[in-house]
Amino acid sequence: MRASSTNTALRIVGQKAAKQDTSKPLQLMQRQRTVNQQVVAWMTRHDMHRTLTVDACAGIEGSLWAVHERGGRWIGNEIAEGDVSLLEGTVRGIQNSRISVIHEDAHHLSLDDKMADFYLFVFALAHLRTFDALKEASRIIKDEGRIAICCPGPTYWIMDIMISVALTQHGISPGTPVDQVLRSRPNLTKNITNFAANVLAPVGMTPWEYAQFILKTNFGVRSFDEFIGALERSAGGFKKGAKDWWYSQRCRLDVMYWDNLLACIKKLKLVPVRMGVMPLAEVSRSKGELDWVVGRIFDCEIAPENLYRSELEQMFSRSEIRGLTDGVAARKMVYGRTLLLKKAG
Ligand SMILES: C[S@@+](CC[C@H](N)C(=O)[O-])C[C@H]1O[C@@H](n2cnc3c(N)ncnc32)[C@H](O)[C@@H]1O
Repeated sequence: MRASSTNTALRIVGQKAAKQDTSKPLQLMQRQRTVNQQVVAWMTRHDMHRTLTVDACAGIEGSLWAVHERGGRWIGNEIAEGDVSLLEGTVRGIQNSRISVIHEDAHHLSLDDKMADFYLFVFALAHLRTFDALKEASRIIKDEGRIAICCPGPTYWIMDIMISVALTQHGISPGTPVDQVLRSRPNLTKNITNFAANVLAPVGMTPWEYAQFILKTNFGVRSFDEFIGALERSAGGFKKGAKDWWYSQRCRLDVMYWDNLLACIKKLKLVPVRMGVMPLAEVSRSKGELDWVVGRIFDCEIAPENLYRSELEQMFSRSEIRGLTDGVAARKMVYGRTLLLKKAG
Protein backbone atom coordinates (compact mmCIF):
# COMPACT_ATOMS: atom_id res chain seq x y z
CA MET A 1 0.00 0.00 0.00
CA ARG A 2 1.35 3.46 -0.84
CA ALA A 3 2.10 5.77 2.07
CA SER A 4 -0.78 8.20 1.47
CA SER A 5 -3.50 5.55 1.23
CA THR A 6 -2.03 3.75 4.22
CA ASN A 7 -2.21 6.94 6.19
CA THR A 8 -5.83 7.52 5.28
CA ALA A 9 -6.64 3.96 6.30
CA LEU A 10 -4.76 4.45 9.51
CA ARG A 11 -6.61 7.62 10.33
CA ILE A 12 -10.00 6.03 9.74
CA VAL A 13 -9.22 2.85 11.67
CA GLY A 14 -7.89 4.89 14.58
CA GLN A 15 -10.88 7.18 14.67
CA LYS A 16 -13.32 4.31 14.58
CA ALA A 17 -11.46 2.69 17.42
CA ALA A 18 -11.58 5.85 19.48
CA LYS A 19 -15.29 6.32 18.85
CA GLN A 20 -16.06 2.81 20.04
CA ASP A 21 -14.28 3.42 23.29
CA THR A 22 -16.33 6.05 25.04
CA SER A 23 -13.70 6.57 27.71
CA LYS A 24 -11.29 8.02 25.15
CA PRO A 25 -12.91 11.00 23.46
CA LEU A 26 -12.08 11.43 19.80
CA GLN A 27 -11.18 15.02 20.54
CA LEU A 28 -8.34 13.94 22.82
CA MET A 29 -7.11 11.44 20.32
CA GLN A 30 -6.97 14.11 17.65
CA ARG A 31 -5.12 16.41 19.98
CA GLN A 32 -2.53 13.75 20.78
CA ARG A 33 -2.10 12.95 17.10
CA THR A 34 -1.17 16.57 16.43
CA VAL A 35 1.06 16.69 19.50
CA ASN A 36 2.92 13.60 18.25
CA GLN A 37 3.25 15.02 14.75
CA GLN A 38 4.81 18.16 16.21
CA VAL A 39 7.20 16.19 18.38
CA VAL A 40 8.32 13.87 15.58
CA ALA A 41 8.80 16.81 13.18
CA TRP A 42 10.84 18.63 15.84
CA MET A 43 12.89 15.57 16.77
CA THR A 44 14.19 14.94 13.25
CA ARG A 45 14.11 16.95 10.07
CA HIS A 46 14.99 13.89 8.00
CA ASP A 47 12.71 11.25 6.65
CA MET A 48 12.70 8.22 8.89
CA HIS A 49 13.39 5.38 6.45
CA ARG A 50 15.62 2.71 7.99
CA THR A 51 15.02 4.08 11.50
CA LEU A 52 13.22 2.44 14.39
CA THR A 53 11.19 4.43 16.91
CA VAL A 54 10.04 2.96 20.21
CA ASP A 55 7.07 4.81 21.69
CA ALA A 56 6.65 4.26 25.44
CA CYS A 57 3.08 4.58 26.74
CA ALA A 58 1.60 5.00 23.29
CA GLY A 59 -2.02 4.96 24.46
CA ILE A 60 -4.40 4.26 21.58
CA GLU A 61 -2.19 5.70 18.87
CA GLY A 62 0.73 7.76 20.14
CA SER A 63 3.22 8.59 17.39
CA LEU A 64 2.20 5.67 15.16
CA TRP A 65 0.79 7.85 12.41
CA ALA A 66 3.49 10.54 12.69
CA VAL A 67 6.35 8.04 12.36
CA HIS A 68 4.66 5.90 9.74
CA GLU A 69 4.00 8.98 7.58
CA ARG A 70 7.76 9.56 7.46
CA GLY A 71 8.55 6.00 6.51
CA GLY A 72 9.91 4.83 9.87
CA ARG A 73 9.53 1.53 11.71
CA TRP A 74 7.54 1.80 14.91
CA ILE A 75 7.10 -0.24 18.08
CA GLY A 76 4.36 1.02 20.36
CA ASN A 77 4.38 0.08 24.03
CA GLU A 78 1.33 0.26 26.24
CA ILE A 79 0.30 -1.34 29.51
CA ALA A 80 -3.47 -0.83 29.63
CA GLU A 81 -5.32 -3.76 28.11
CA GLY A 82 -8.10 -1.70 26.52
CA ASP A 83 -5.63 0.65 24.84
CA VAL A 84 -3.51 -2.23 23.61
CA SER A 85 -6.46 -3.92 21.93
CA LEU A 86 -7.42 -0.66 20.19
CA LEU A 87 -3.84 -0.18 19.09
CA GLU A 88 -3.60 -3.77 17.86
CA GLY A 89 -6.86 -3.29 15.96
CA THR A 90 -5.36 -0.28 14.19
CA VAL A 91 -2.19 -2.17 13.38
CA ARG A 92 -4.17 -5.14 11.99
CA GLY A 93 -6.26 -2.71 9.95
CA ILE A 94 -3.27 -1.31 8.11
CA GLN A 95 -1.32 -4.59 7.87
CA ASN A 96 2.16 -3.19 7.79
CA SER A 97 5.10 -5.22 8.99
CA ARG A 98 6.99 -2.10 10.06
CA ILE A 99 4.52 -1.46 12.88
CA SER A 100 4.08 -3.53 16.01
CA VAL A 101 2.77 -3.31 19.55
CA ILE A 102 4.12 -4.64 22.84
CA HIS A 103 1.83 -5.03 25.80
CA GLU A 104 4.38 -4.50 28.57
CA ASP A 105 5.43 -2.24 31.40
CA ALA A 106 7.58 0.61 30.06
CA HIS A 107 10.00 0.13 32.96
CA HIS A 108 10.97 -3.35 31.69
CA LEU A 109 10.63 -3.95 27.99
CA SER A 110 11.56 -7.14 26.18
CA LEU A 111 13.54 -5.19 23.58
CA ASP A 112 17.22 -5.63 22.78
CA ASP A 113 19.96 -3.26 23.85
CA LYS A 114 20.87 -0.49 21.42
CA MET A 115 18.19 -1.30 18.86
CA ALA A 116 16.29 1.98 18.49
CA ASP A 117 17.15 5.22 16.75
CA PHE A 118 14.43 7.18 18.57
CA TYR A 119 12.62 6.63 21.83
CA LEU A 120 9.57 8.70 22.68
CA PHE A 121 7.92 9.72 25.92
CA VAL A 122 5.00 11.88 24.82
CA PHE A 123 2.80 12.82 27.75
CA ALA A 124 4.15 9.65 29.25
CA LEU A 125 6.67 10.39 31.98
CA ALA A 126 3.97 11.53 34.39
CA HIS A 127 2.85 7.89 34.49
CA LEU A 128 6.26 6.38 35.03
CA ARG A 129 9.08 6.30 37.54
CA THR A 130 11.18 8.94 35.82
CA PHE A 131 14.62 7.49 36.58
CA ASP A 132 13.77 3.86 35.80
CA ALA A 133 11.92 4.70 32.61
CA LEU A 134 14.77 6.85 31.29
CA LYS A 135 17.27 4.16 32.21
CA GLU A 136 15.33 1.64 30.15
CA ALA A 137 15.17 4.08 27.21
CA SER A 138 18.90 4.63 27.46
CA ARG A 139 19.51 0.88 27.31
CA ILE A 140 17.34 0.46 24.22
CA ILE A 141 18.63 3.35 22.08
CA LYS A 142 21.74 3.07 19.91
CA ASP A 143 24.84 5.02 20.93
CA GLU A 144 23.88 7.77 18.53
CA GLY A 145 20.14 7.39 19.30
CA ARG A 146 17.85 10.09 20.67
CA ILE A 147 15.27 10.18 23.44
CA ALA A 148 12.50 12.73 22.97
CA ILE A 149 10.44 13.83 25.94
CA CYS A 150 7.35 15.96 25.69
CA CYS A 151 5.40 16.67 28.81
CA PRO A 152 3.12 19.40 29.97
CA GLY A 153 4.69 19.36 33.41
CA PRO A 154 2.39 19.79 36.37
CA THR A 155 -0.51 21.24 34.42
CA TYR A 156 -3.90 21.96 35.82
CA TRP A 157 -5.09 18.37 35.91
CA ILE A 158 -2.04 17.03 37.71
CA MET A 159 -2.22 20.00 40.08
CA ASP A 160 -5.93 19.36 40.62
CA ILE A 161 -5.30 15.74 41.45
CA MET A 162 -2.37 16.32 43.75
CA ILE A 163 -3.59 19.27 45.70
CA SER A 164 -7.20 18.24 46.07
CA VAL A 165 -6.41 14.62 46.82
CA ALA A 166 -3.83 15.68 49.36
CA LEU A 167 -6.21 18.04 51.02
CA THR A 168 -9.27 15.85 51.03
CA GLN A 169 -7.39 12.82 52.30
CA HIS A 170 -5.95 14.87 55.09
CA GLY A 171 -9.21 16.74 55.79
CA ILE A 172 -9.75 20.42 55.15
CA SER A 173 -10.94 22.77 57.86
CA PRO A 174 -13.83 24.93 56.69
CA GLY A 175 -12.85 28.53 56.04
CA THR A 176 -9.11 27.89 55.70
CA PRO A 177 -7.34 29.23 52.58
CA VAL A 178 -7.18 25.84 50.95
CA ASP A 179 -10.86 25.24 51.64
CA GLN A 180 -11.62 28.54 49.92
CA VAL A 181 -9.40 27.65 47.00
CA LEU A 182 -11.20 24.38 46.45
CA ARG A 183 -14.59 26.06 46.68
CA SER A 184 -13.50 28.65 44.15
CA ARG A 185 -12.82 25.94 41.59
CA PRO A 186 -16.14 24.38 40.58
CA ASN A 187 -14.57 22.36 37.74
CA LEU A 188 -12.17 20.63 40.06
CA THR A 189 -14.29 17.56 40.73
CA LYS A 190 -15.12 17.25 37.05
CA ASN A 191 -11.44 17.37 36.07
CA ILE A 192 -10.52 14.74 38.60
CA THR A 193 -13.39 12.47 37.60
CA ASN A 194 -12.38 12.73 33.93
CA PHE A 195 -8.74 12.10 34.66
CA ALA A 196 -9.57 9.15 36.88
CA ALA A 197 -11.84 7.59 34.25
CA ASN A 198 -9.66 8.21 31.20
CA VAL A 199 -6.15 7.82 32.50
CA LEU A 200 -6.09 6.14 35.87
CA ALA A 201 -8.85 3.53 35.60
CA PRO A 202 -7.22 1.67 32.66
CA VAL A 203 -4.06 1.12 34.72
CA GLY A 204 -6.01 0.37 37.87
CA MET A 205 -4.95 3.36 39.98
CA THR A 206 -7.04 5.57 42.19
CA PRO A 207 -6.41 9.33 42.28
CA TRP A 208 -4.97 8.87 45.75
CA GLU A 209 -2.51 6.20 44.62
CA TYR A 210 -1.56 8.27 41.59
CA ALA A 211 -0.95 11.37 43.70
CA GLN A 212 1.39 9.44 45.97
CA PHE A 213 3.16 7.82 43.05
CA ILE A 214 3.72 11.03 41.13
CA LEU A 215 4.92 12.96 44.15
CA LYS A 216 7.65 10.44 44.76
CA THR A 217 8.69 9.62 41.23
CA ASN A 218 8.19 12.91 39.39
CA PHE A 219 8.71 15.48 42.10
CA GLY A 220 11.21 13.76 44.34
CA VAL A 221 9.05 14.37 47.44
CA ARG A 222 9.47 11.57 49.96
CA SER A 223 6.07 11.71 51.64
CA PHE A 224 2.68 13.23 51.39
CA ASP A 225 3.15 14.93 54.74
CA GLU A 226 6.17 16.74 53.35
CA PHE A 227 4.02 18.00 50.50
CA ILE A 228 1.15 19.05 52.77
CA GLY A 229 3.64 20.84 55.01
CA ALA A 230 4.92 22.86 52.06
CA LEU A 231 1.35 23.74 51.06
CA GLU A 232 0.53 24.88 54.56
CA ARG A 233 3.64 27.00 54.82
CA SER A 234 2.67 28.74 51.63
CA ALA A 235 -0.91 29.39 52.74
CA GLY A 236 0.11 32.94 53.69
CA GLY A 237 0.48 33.75 50.03
CA PHE A 238 -3.22 33.06 49.70
CA LYS A 239 -4.00 36.60 50.87
CA LYS A 240 -3.51 37.76 47.30
CA GLY A 241 -6.43 35.58 46.24
CA ALA A 242 -7.25 32.00 45.38
CA LYS A 243 -6.22 32.24 41.75
CA ASP A 244 -2.77 33.65 42.56
CA TRP A 245 -2.24 31.08 45.27
CA TRP A 246 -3.14 28.23 42.94
CA TYR A 247 -0.86 29.66 40.24
CA SER A 248 2.06 30.09 42.60
CA GLN A 249 1.70 26.48 43.75
CA ARG A 250 1.70 25.37 40.16
CA CYS A 251 4.90 27.29 39.44
CA ARG A 252 6.50 25.82 42.54
CA LEU A 253 5.59 22.30 41.45
CA ASP A 254 6.90 23.07 38.00
CA VAL A 255 10.32 23.91 39.40
CA MET A 256 10.33 20.74 41.53
CA TYR A 257 9.29 18.67 38.53
CA TRP A 258 12.06 19.93 36.23
CA ASP A 259 14.70 19.79 38.96
CA ASN A 260 13.87 16.13 39.46
CA LEU A 261 13.85 15.38 35.74
CA LEU A 262 17.19 17.13 35.14
CA ALA A 263 18.76 15.32 38.08
CA CYS A 264 17.68 11.96 36.63
CA ILE A 265 19.03 12.90 33.21
CA LYS A 266 22.39 13.87 34.69
CA LYS A 267 22.64 10.74 36.80
CA LEU A 268 22.03 8.58 33.74
CA LYS A 269 24.75 10.42 31.79
CA LEU A 270 22.29 11.71 29.25
CA VAL A 271 22.65 15.20 27.83
CA PRO A 272 20.07 17.53 26.35
CA VAL A 273 20.78 18.42 22.74
CA ARG A 274 17.68 20.45 22.08
CA MET A 275 14.94 22.04 24.12
CA GLY A 276 11.61 23.40 22.98
CA VAL A 277 8.19 24.60 24.04
CA MET A 278 4.94 23.49 22.48
CA PRO A 279 1.89 25.72 22.92
CA LEU A 280 -1.32 23.86 23.57
CA ALA A 281 -4.72 25.33 24.37
CA GLU A 282 -8.25 24.15 24.93
CA VAL A 283 -10.48 26.51 23.02
CA SER A 284 -14.22 27.02 22.78
CA ARG A 285 -15.63 27.47 19.33
CA SER A 286 -18.76 29.38 18.41
CA LYS A 287 -21.39 26.80 19.42
CA GLY A 288 -19.71 26.15 22.71
CA GLU A 289 -17.85 23.15 21.34
CA LEU A 290 -14.49 22.52 22.91
CA ASP A 291 -11.43 21.78 20.88
CA TRP A 292 -7.67 21.63 21.30
CA VAL A 293 -5.20 23.65 19.32
CA VAL A 294 -1.56 22.64 19.18
CA GLY A 295 1.08 25.13 18.03
CA ARG A 296 4.43 24.47 16.41
CA ILE A 297 7.28 23.70 18.82
CA PHE A 298 9.81 26.50 19.06
CA ASP A 299 13.34 26.05 20.29
CA CYS A 300 14.72 27.54 23.46
CA GLU A 301 18.30 27.89 24.43
CA ILE A 302 19.40 24.86 26.47
CA ALA A 303 19.60 26.16 29.98
CA PRO A 304 17.80 24.71 32.99
CA GLU A 305 16.46 28.10 34.00
CA ASN A 306 14.60 28.29 30.68
CA LEU A 307 12.50 25.40 31.83
CA TYR A 308 11.04 27.62 34.50
CA ARG A 309 10.45 30.70 32.44
CA SER A 310 6.70 30.65 32.27
CA GLU A 311 6.49 34.27 31.07
CA LEU A 312 8.53 33.36 28.03
CA GLU A 313 6.31 30.42 27.31
CA GLN A 314 3.17 32.42 27.72
CA MET A 315 4.41 35.13 25.43
CA PHE A 316 5.26 32.67 22.69
CA SER A 317 2.30 30.44 23.09
CA ARG A 318 -0.21 33.29 23.14
CA SER A 319 1.04 34.60 19.83
CA GLU A 320 1.15 31.12 18.30
CA ILE A 321 -2.28 30.24 19.54
CA ARG A 322 -3.77 33.52 18.42
CA GLY A 323 -2.46 32.98 14.92
CA LEU A 324 -3.91 29.50 14.78
CA THR A 325 -7.32 30.07 16.25
CA ASP A 326 -8.73 33.26 14.87
CA GLY A 327 -12.02 34.02 16.55
CA VAL A 328 -11.81 31.47 19.33
CA ALA A 329 -11.17 32.08 22.97
CA ALA A 330 -8.40 30.08 24.59
CA ARG A 331 -9.69 28.64 27.82
CA LYS A 332 -6.89 26.56 29.14
CA MET A 333 -3.28 26.88 28.17
CA VAL A 334 -0.83 24.08 28.67
CA TYR A 335 2.81 24.29 27.71
CA GLY A 336 4.35 21.09 26.50
CA ARG A 337 8.05 21.19 27.15
CA THR A 338 10.17 19.11 24.81
CA LEU A 339 13.64 17.79 25.43
CA LEU A 340 15.82 15.83 23.07
CA LEU A 341 18.50 13.76 24.79
CA LYS A 342 21.52 11.79 23.69
CA LYS A 343 24.04 9.64 25.49
CA ALA A 344 27.07 11.54 26.74
CA GLY A 345 30.40 10.91 24.99
C1 LIG B 1 -1.48 10.27 28.29
S1 LIG B 1 -1.60 8.64 27.84
C2 LIG B 1 -1.06 8.40 26.21
C3 LIG B 1 0.07 9.19 25.72
C4 LIG B 1 0.48 8.88 24.30
N1 LIG B 1 1.93 8.83 24.24
C5 LIG B 1 -0.06 9.92 23.37
O1 LIG B 1 0.71 10.80 22.97
O2 LIG B 1 -1.27 9.89 23.08
C6 LIG B 1 -0.44 7.78 28.83
C7 LIG B 1 -0.51 6.28 28.66
O3 LIG B 1 0.47 5.67 29.51
C8 LIG B 1 0.02 4.35 29.76
N2 LIG B 1 0.84 3.78 30.85
C9 LIG B 1 0.78 4.07 32.18
N3 LIG B 1 1.69 3.37 32.87
C10 LIG B 1 2.37 2.63 31.95
C11 LIG B 1 3.46 1.69 32.06
N4 LIG B 1 4.02 1.41 33.24
N5 LIG B 1 3.92 1.12 30.92
C12 LIG B 1 3.36 1.39 29.72
N6 LIG B 1 2.31 2.26 29.56
C13 LIG B 1 1.84 2.87 30.66
C14 LIG B 1 -1.44 4.59 30.10
O4 LIG B 1 -2.19 3.42 29.99
C15 LIG B 1 -1.81 5.66 29.04
O5 LIG B 1 -2.36 5.08 27.90
